[in-house]
Amino acid sequence: MPVSYLEKTKIFKLDAGDSTYVLRVADEGYLLGLYWGAKIPDADFEGYDLRDYASSFSPRNEIVGEGRFSPDVAPIEYSGFGTGDFRKTPVALRNADGNDATDFRYAGHRIHAGKRAPAGMPGLRADTPADCETLEIDMTDRTTGAALTLFYTVFKDEPVISRFAVLKNTSDRPLEIEKLASASVQLNAMDFDFIHLYGRWGAERNYVRAPLAHGHQSISSTRGSSSHYHNPFAALAKHGADEESGEVYGFSLIYSGSFDITADVDYYETTRVNMGINPDGFLWHLEPGEVFETPEAVLVYSAEGLGGMSRAFHRLWLNRLIRGKYRTEKRPLLINSWEAAFFDFDADKLVSFAERAKEIGIDMLVMDDGWFGRRNDDRSSLGDWWVNEDKLEGGLGSLIERVNALGLKFGIWYEPEMISPDSDLFRAHPDWCLHVPNRPNSIARHQYVIDMSRKDVRDNLWEQINAVLSKYKIDYVKWDFNRNLTEAGSALLSAPRGEEIFHRFVLGTYELMGRLVDTYPDLLLENCSGGGGRFDPGMLYFSPQIWCSDNTDPVERLAIQFGTSLCYPASSMGAHVSMSRRAGFETKGNVAMWGTFGYELDPNRLGEKDLEIVRKQAADYHKYYELIHYGDLYRITDPWDNAYRCAWMFVSPDKAEALYTQVNMRYYHCPFLLVRFRGLDPAKNYTLEGTGKTYSGAFLMNAGLNLSDCPRGDGSSFTLHFVRE
Ligand code: GLA
Repeated sequence: MPVSYLEKTKIFKLDAGDSTYVLRVADEGYLLGLYWGAKIPDADFEGYDLRDYASSFSPRNEIVGEGRFSPDVAPIEYSGFGTGDFRKTPVALRNADGNDATDFRYAGHRIHAGKRAPAGMPGLRADTPADCETLEIDMTDRTTGAALTLFYTVFKDEPVISRFAVLKNTSDRPLEIEKLASASVQLNAMDFDFIHLYGRWGAERNYVRAPLAHGHQSISSTRGSSSHYHNPFAALAKHGADEESGEVYGFSLIYSGSFDITADVDYYETTRVNMGINPDGFLWHLEPGEVFETPEAVLVYSAEGLGGMSRAFHRLWLNRLIRGKYRTEKRPLLINSWEAAFFDFDADKLVSFAERAKEIGIDMLVMDDGWFGRRNDDRSSLGDWWVNEDKLEGGLGSLIERVNALGLKFGIWYEPEMISPDSDLFRAHPDWCLHVPNRPNSIARHQYVIDMSRKDVRDNLWEQINAVLSKYKIDYVKWDFNRNLTEAGSALLSAPRGEEIFHRFVLGTYELMGRLVDTYPDLLLENCSGGGGRFDPGMLYFSPQIWCSDNTDPVERLAIQFGTSLCYPASSMGAHVSMSRRAGFETKGNVAMWGTFGYELDPNRLGEKDLEIVRKQAADYHKYYELIHYGDLYRITDPWDNAYRCAWMFVSPDKAEALYTQVNMRYYHCPFLLVRFRGLDPAKNYTLEGTGKTYSGAFLMNAGLNLSDCPRGDGSSFTLHFVRE
């Protein structure tokens, strides 16, 4: 069984794939996080004596460890605040007397098959209870009456442990939660590099790697969404761990709101990672008997470097997180109207896109922003989700019929969480946007944020969305989110619940998205937030694909897609070929093929030569669909270390087929280019398509191929397709 409890030593052993995680209930109920790393068959931890956990100035618990035990030094698994542990603690509560001291001790545990997700939030799924096992550890803080349950789920064949925490107020007076992390993780070392993905609009998820030092390092969002700026993902890689080898610990939070991931290196050279909802801007009021649940955190261990970690995350999201039929069913190849027309379209123009798209082999037309209310630019109408028949003469039904008659499916754009001051909805309900009394609202992209915490608001949005979706044949929705939260207050939430709005907003969004995908299970949902401003596992749960960036320049996309791939699979990365100025259509296609693939241009503007390339791309989309969507990714040359070229490959899970892609950012002067491939079966032979030449997997991976004759000019690119004999 993946979770075992050794009564004699009071040790919990969690065996997840090739990894082991060990907890111990020490004297007086202290719960210690003893180990996380490569698999250990036995787990006695006899030498981990409680006497060693104290130092000068350490507040002691004198009945434990012969008076030489202190929460100041011990690897307390989920530490309270103000009772001897001076490090960053995962929890901060304030009781009705105004005290904030807490000290959680073990009270009991349960081990059972299967798992559940935290209430109202996305989470990993067990298809059958046998897929995983869950350990629930109850902890209590006697003084405040706070009862904590820590959930650990182990997926037995994967190096993955998922966690969340549930806090119940068992006292007879209210409690305020100031901080409640989803997970707190203890690591017995500090020789790590902290890896994370920072970014901005148009340049999301850049790879950053820097050694940990004493003190703490954190990434976070206070924006109410996971944001372009930091992604709710981090990794700790042992110094020297690289793409293929070395230990890497990956951390990801299944949450789409403000988050925080902090690595705290203490004075004794151990590291604690706390991750969860950002305590900045968070305060939750808990009446007696009430319960609060955190989002789910996911921990991945890899002994095969960053590549191993990424592949584990990719498999996990595909198999255990993403829901709906398009997780496994082939997705239509789409063309989107945004960069082709922006707001300037009518029914005939859209049909003309569809006609040419049909010739190319495209399966679906997506009508982006501008079809509703009186929206002809970004200054109005968010909230007025009725069809603008002045623009779409004959109405939406007639447009969809014309598109369907060509054999194409039809998709549409929404931005439900926003409201334009210039909209009928805002004029009727000025208190439906987030706002605080006596303070003017900040405006961004000429819009306010709608109050998703309110059920009446969500019901109104649902009525409007459902009126369109139930009437017309719509196969796809792009759900956008184009600003962050400010003046975050709700007309229905006042003290002491006012600050709950940030989290309640996220819960409201999840509830509405859930209604959408539950009511329309055949709908393909794509998330978006000014490009990839909400590219997180919370959104991935509802939508199998997320628009990766508004930047469609193929060369700049390389860094964005490389960074995104650290945690997210190709099948989730919305990537389109556009009219962007750099590089030819071949390279645009090769880059977009490392993603969902589609088009974002006016196909009538393509010349005959480009049309030919584009037609071949559409055929390649089908040819390589399975390989790219379900294959294993190997990053070969990354854009941070190599100024000249970027290369990656996909290998089918059975290693029968592989596709190598190389994009040259700059001309490479060296006369000789040798590339070693990865992920193949060393004992099998592979034929390089188009050449008739055959090589052993061992040769391709160790000696490598001389690619000196392949294209190497600025912005050029090529692919190599290997098929096992
Ligand atoms: C955002 C999206 C774009 C497009 C526009 C429409 O910026 O990222 O793809 O949908 O909104 O306004």
